[in-house]
Amino acid sequence: MRRIEPFTTLDALHQAAADAFCTLVAEKLARNESVSISLSGGSTPKRLYELLSQRELPWDQIHWFWGDERNVPHDHVESNARMVREALLDRVAVPEANIHCVPVEPDDPASAARRYEQTLKEHFSGQPFPKWDLALLGMGDDAHTASLFPETEALDEKERWFVENWVEKFNAYRYTLTVPAINSAQQSWFLVAGEGKREAVAHVFSEEGKPRLYPSQSIRATCWFMTRDAYPES
Ligand code: 6PG
Repeated sequence: MRRIEPFTTLDALHQAAADAFCTLVAEKLARNESVSISLSGGSTPKRLYELLSQRELPWDQIHWFWGDERNVPHDHVESNARMVREALLDRVAVPEANIHCVPVEPDDPASAARRYEQTLKEHFSGQPFPKWDLALLGMGDDAHTASLFPETEALDEKERWFVENWVEKFNAYRYTLTVPAINSAQQSWFLVAGEGKREAVAHVFSEEGKPRLYPSQSIRATCWFMTRDAYPES
C-alpha cells in the first residue's frame, strides 16, 4: 500500500518533510552511531534542504551522499553538489568527511561512476546494496527520478549500484543510483509538487507496468510527500 501525505501548500509539504527528517534521524541515532542519506537534485528537494539548515541536527553523525549528479564540475551552476552545499551543507557544521560528492570526471564518466560506486561499497561494506537510512527523491514531469530517465540504459541495470547514464534528450551523461540501489533504502521519500507532475503521477500510480516509460514506477517508495495539485484527479 502506497503511503501518501497530501498537502494543500508547498510550504506545508516542506515543513512536514523537514519534521519527518528530524524524527527519522533521532530515531535512527537512538540505535546507530550514524545516519546515511542519499540526496536528490531538483527544486522540490532543494527547499527541504534549506529548511533543514535551520534545524538543530547532529550534523557530525549524518553522512551525505548523492543519488544522482550531472556530468559537470562541482562549481557548475547545474551541479547537484553545488546546489546541496549552497542550500544546506555550507550553512551548518557538517564535517567535510561526512560529505561524499560524486567525483565527476566530465571526460570519463564511467571511471567516475565506478569510483563513486567503490565509495558506496566501502561505506556499506558487506551489504548487497546500499542500506540508506533515507533516500530522498524528486520526480520529473516525465516520471524520471534520480537520473533514471525514460528509455535509458541505467533502467536495466540490476547488479551495479551506481552508473553513468547517457541521456539523449540532454545530449549528456548523468550519474545515478540504479533501481536496486534506491530500493535497498530503509526509507525512501518522493517529494512531488505541482499540477505539472499530475500526469506523470497518474502513470506511476496506475497498474500499467511500464517502468521504462515511467521510471519512478520501479521505486518502492515508503512515502510520497505530495501537494494536492500533483495528485491525479479522482
Ligand atoms: C536532478 C534530480 C531529479 C529531480 C527531478 C524533480 O538531478 O534533477 O535528481 O531527479 O529530483 O527532476 O525536480 P523538481 O523537484 O525540480 O521538479
